[in-house]
Amino acid sequence: IRCRSNSTDEVKTKRNLLDNASNLLTNLLSGRSLGSMPIAEGAVTDLFDRPLFFSLYDWFLEHGAVYKLAFGPKAFVVVSDPVVARHILRENAFLFDKGVLADILEPIMGKGLIPADLDTWKLRRRVIAPGFHALYLEAMVRIFSSCSERTILKFEKLLERENLQGEKTTELDLEAEFSSLALDIIGLGVFNYDFGSVTKESPVIKAVYGTLFEAEHRSTFYIPYWKIPFMRWVVPRQRKFQNDLKVINDCLDGLIRNAKETRQETDVEKLQQRDYSNLKDASLLRFLVDMRGADVDDHQLRDDLMTMLIAGHETTAAVLTWAVFLLAQSPSKMKKAQKEIDSVLGQDEPSFESIKKLEYIRLTVVEALRLYPQPPLLIRRSLKSDTLPGGYNGDKNGYAIPPGTDIFISVYNLHRSPYFWDHPNEFEPERFLVEKKNEEVEGWDGFDPSRSPGALYPNEIISDFAFLPFGGGPRKCVGDQFALMESTVALAMLLQKFDVELKGSPESVELVTGATIHTKNGMWCKLRKRSHVH
Ligand code: HEM
Repeated sequence: IRCRSNSTDEVKTKRNLLDNASNLLTNLLSGRSLGSMPIAEGAVTDLFDRPLFFSLYDWFLEHGAVYKLAFGPKAFVVVSDPVVARHILRENAFLFDKGVLADILEPIMGKGLIPADLDTWKLRRRVIAPGFHALYLEAMVRIFSSCSERTILKFEKLLERENLQGEKTTELDLEAEFSSLALDIIGLGVFNYDFGSVTKESPVIKAVYGTLFEAEHRSTFYIPYWKIPFMRWVVPRQRKFQNDLKVINDCLDGLIRNAKETRQETDVEKLQQRDYSNLKDASLLRFLVDMRGADVDDHQLRDDLMTMLIAGHETTAAVLTWAVFLLAQSPSKMKKAQKEIDSVLGQDEPSFESIKKLEYIRLTVVEALRLYPQPPLLIRRSLKSDTLPGGYNGDKNGYAIPPGTDIFISVYNLHRSPYFWDHPNEFEPERFLVEKKNEEVEGWDGFDPSRSPGALYPNEIISDFAFLPFGGGPRKCVGDQFALMESTVALAMLLQKFDVELKGSPESVELVTGATIHTKNGMWCKLRKRSHVH
């Protein structure tokens, strides 16, 4: 077919039609459609009785790595196979958008990277990703240490008070403490604002938690009632949400104004070589404003900052929570972790260089992300018809999917898949040191720790998409190294100073989920000052 039209839109439309027609033909030839996919019929109670990802796991074992989940008229394709995940996230990434997730997050994050349409995403990703360069991360490690130090001081004070009462331990909800720590770090690292939430409460902090709470609620509530006109002014929780958003936006607008007023124009290379050791404000906002000048659209900047505030806060707090939860159940692994910390750090704070030597702590962090991925599901919607490749279990032909198919890539299932991991439910940080090949799985290359030279942390490349803690392909997390180093520093500093035990049994820590996997009633722990540290 020749396109005679000069209008680019028309040419695009014709190309799309052609693409769709050729996809349809491929699908017909492959002979398998969505209709022939195994179906898991979900009862609505499955959505409320327990976290959805538990049911998705059971259905994965029952129906295989690609199945359809039907809730009444709504259907999702659930993917638990690395080859299919790689196809959606990397090879055919631009055939999919964020679907339901974008509907939920757009009112909060606007045109921020996570829900952004493709054109906005392409522009902003190119601007934001270079901000996470090595010197920035090195400056961030100093922020991770100083914020963790504030948390440690708080715990020490609480312990001193307990000691006066004759108690050797203090009891704390570490999940809440990690949440405050991660909020302080993301505020300073992304827009040079000290929430100070480890030691105080403020209207802005309350508004951030209110907004997170609403985002969480929306991600588990499947009817977007907040989109109904006037609803936001009628339903009290929606009114509160609008007020919370305004408080945060006013705060961010003030920071943006200030960054623009103190702007120093320079080019990207110079910005990336700045002397970050003497810089008062090393934040990402400083970089974004200095790089692009006063012409950056304030609204877009605010959406970018809000996105990173939400994306980088509870996720990191959750990793720390589950890392401690897992270590606390394994005294020998806890001992190994503390021994490494003592020998690498002694009494010193971690630095950019010492993170490289804290191997066991780094692997503990990634193992916590394997067992408790944040978020447990990645959400996509197909923009055109496509054929998902065949995975393992004899599904060699794959499935044809029409445009508009909603997909859950279950990272939780991938990370606990008995087909790709030995003892998938066991906590074994050492597993990432061992090469693993599985010739039986077509199209999957398996583990080869040497495949990502220079990578500090195992990633989706070495595992060929069996391990996806930060997603993969073009929409992979921009803050992955930031978050991993932050978790390594905070975990190392906590265990350097304290022995930690769970207050109750591990079974008493109930899981709930929305955007992240967290606990129902906090993760209560007993902290005791380590005897050799004075
Ligand atoms: C995207 C996980 C920390 C900013 C993502 C995605 C995952 C993820 C899985 C991909 C989502 C998808 O494909 O649908 C995590 C985890 C974190 C973490 C587990 C902590 C342990 C951070 C931090 C920041 C951040 C600290 C910012 C400072 C973002 C942004 C995106 C993203 C902006 C969207 C990227 C894009 O679409 O181009 N994150 N993240 N994240 N994350 Fe993170």
